Amino acid sequence: MRRLLLLRMLLALCFCVSVNAGTKQNQNEQKSSPEKDGLLQLNKGNFNAALKKHKQLLVHFYSPLSGESHRLLALFEGAAEGLQGSGVKAAVLDVSKEKDLAEELNATGLPTIKLYLSGDKYNPDVCPVPQSSNSILTWLKRRAGSAADLVTDLSQSEASEELTVVGFFKELNHEYVQVYYAAALSLPDVNFAVTQDDEVISKYGLTHDIILLLKKSKLIQAYKMMPQTSKEQLVVFITVYQMDPVTEYTGKTAAQILSSPVLSHALLFVSRSSGDFARIHSAFSSAAEAFRMKILFVWVNVDEPRNGRLMEYFRVRDFEAPLVRMVNLTDHVTYHLPSDTLDVESIRRFCRSYLEGEAKAKMQSEPPPEGWDEQPVKELVGMNLEEVAFNPHRTVFVLFYLPYSQASRTLFPLWEELAEATKEREDVVIARIDASANDINMSMQGSYPSLCLFPALHAERVVLYSGERKLEDLMKFLDREMEKAKKDRAVVNHVLYGSVQHDCTVSF
Ligand SMILES: *[C@@H]1O[C@H](CO)[C@@H](O)[C@H](O)[C@H]1NC(C)=O
Ligand SMILES: *[C@@H]1O[C@H](CO)[C@@H](O)[C@H](O)[C@H]1NC(C)=O
Ligand SMILES: *[C@@H]1O[C@H](CO)[C@@H](O)[C@H](O)[C@H]1NC(C)=O
Repeated sequence: MRRLLLLRMLLALCFCVSVNAGTKQNQNEQKSSPEKDGLLQLNKGNFNAALKKHKQLLVHFYSPLSGESHRLLALFEGAAEGLQGSGVKAAVLDVSKEKDLAEELNATGLPTIKLYLSGDKYNPDVCPVPQSSNSILTWLKRRAGSAADLVTDLSQSEASEELTVVGFFKELNHEYVQVYYAAALSLPDVNFAVTQDDEVISKYGLTHDIILLLKKSKLIQAYKMMPQTSKEQLVVFITVYQMDPVTEYTGKTAAQILSSPVLSHALLFVSRSSGDFARIHSAFSSAAEAFRMKILFVWVNVDEPRNGRLMEYFRVRDFEAPLVRMVNLTDHVTYHLPSDTLDVESIRRFCRSYLEGEAKAKMQSEPPPEGWDEQPVKELVGMNLEEVAFNPHRTVFVLFYLPYSQASRTLFPLWEELAEATKEREDVVIARIDASANDINMSMQGSYPSLCLFPALHAERVVLYSGERKLEDLMKFLDREMEKAKKDRAVVNHVLYGSVQHDCTVSF
């Protein structure tokens, strides 16, 4: 879930320009016509009838305000054109307008494309996140028929600029082939072929029941099928080797990077125009090969203004480059390569120590600003957050904010009001912390801005506020939690900070 949030956020950043352009248009076009540009417009009133009428109903659940949704909608419209006259009916459902229906259909999460078959509302097939209109069509084709083209002459696949996956099987009715087809269905953006031609295989000096990745007349990698090989393993193998050992982070590659099944990423932040770029990039690339399938290697050009947000996320300033950061996308902990000499050996050592669990997580804190505790709203930093928040005598209400986020900034006046309203109360502290400049040393999930209460008498407990963002509601919450903390005190044992799952969970 957290990863999806990150993915969504970064995709939103990449596509924000086009969204802004598109949102207005969408709003103007919100008419109730049931069909527009060949797309059935679904709503609560017509969904069941549409389901009944169309044996194959392909529905794009979208939300006009999401950047990723906007990208998908464009692809979906392209695919819908290709579906005209076929047995598949393309439809869209605006989940922001049709909230009840979306909820009933369990389609409230990320934008998705689902195929409903024979009027079955409960078991739609979910289309893998597509990279193009064509991949939606390919997915439909593969699920309807054979998932890979049978080829005898491989010369074309071999010469292709794009990656082609070729399965070489002795018998086409073998279980391996089913696993292979299942992988093809999950990866509609990739070309798949099947061959039984012995010549092909002898050319590469390999045996049968093997998967080959070919690109520009070159064998990139081979994978020997084993009885225990699962579809998932095959998908990881193909998606990893589909990418180069090192990928530059750009608007184009972001989606691929963030949807990679490899959840540890090594990021090299470097200036392309710097004198030692070639040397450092080459060292990074040389180190990458040994960690494929385990760590994804990505480099980020710090000269590129569009990478600003990503750098902010990793708290890298351009003058600090070159440097390497590791991020574990499961828990979002980042690690810093503790060396000024970015050579192959130090990068390798760093990756090994990370994989062995020996790397030390990077923590970062701004120094406490001058007069940080003199204003009504106290300005905290990573260094003093714990010290201030976990106070046995004071209840501390903290706003975790991102300075560049409009959603965060709109809460500032409310926070001032709250501080004003509680200023006579010795046992209450109202504070805020810039979460983009300070690593928060807590196990957190969810998104910023986040309002977290640290009740007095109840050291190391954190309560996430999720109510209305109004002064009155905040005050009620504060009083209620303070009462509760007093009562709970009797029964709570001392829990070790860091080893407990906090109620309050924040991060990207
Ligand atoms: C939605 O999910 C709930 C809980 O998993 C399930 O009971 C329900 O049948 C689902 N509805 C549909 C339309 O799939
Ligand atoms: C990444 O984080 C998860 C959750 O904390 C952990 O289980 C996993 O071992 C970490 N991966 C590595 C390579 O450290
Ligand atoms: C983060 O918390 C852990 C566990 O309490 C502690 O060992 C570590 O020193 C803390 N790190 C920082 C930078 O505060």
